[in-house]
Amino acid sequence: MGIRMRLTAVETVHDEGSWLFTVRDRHGELEEILLVPCEDGVEAWVNRCTHESQRFDTGNGAAIREGRIICPKHGSLFDSCTGYCDNGDAAETTLPSIDVTVDGEAVYLTDDDVTYLHDGGIDEDDEDDGPASTSHLSF
Ligand code: FES
Repeated sequence: MGIRMRLTAVETVHDEGSWLFTVRDRHGELEEILLVPCEDGVEAWVNRCTHESQRFDTGNGAAIREGRIICPKHGSLFDSCTGYCDNGDAAETTLPSIDVTVDGEAVYLTDDDVTYLHDGGIDEDDEDDGPASTSHLSF
């Protein structure tokens, strides 16, 4: 078990409806993770629809209604607590999850397979420190 990283307050996720952060996975790839309220706690899902990789939160928070995350592209609904979708184009799929732990008022990242980078979504600067970055070759 690695070092746990404090992400935000449980109350913040509940107040804002969702909360986005960026990680690097063990293959060096960037991934956005979406925290969503689930009953009294919080769950963490990869911020991509299982159908065509549409981001749920594109920078202004995810659309969530009655405990379900709404895909903005084709409208499939994913259960916030289980990640499962039983409808539309993404039917019979489940979102990949990331391990987070609620301890008191705070949410911690406790998934050894990913490294926390920053709050919010992937931005251009993220590519600069990546091991596979080729974005600054001179021409
Ligand atoms: S991309 Fe989400 S349902 Fe099609």
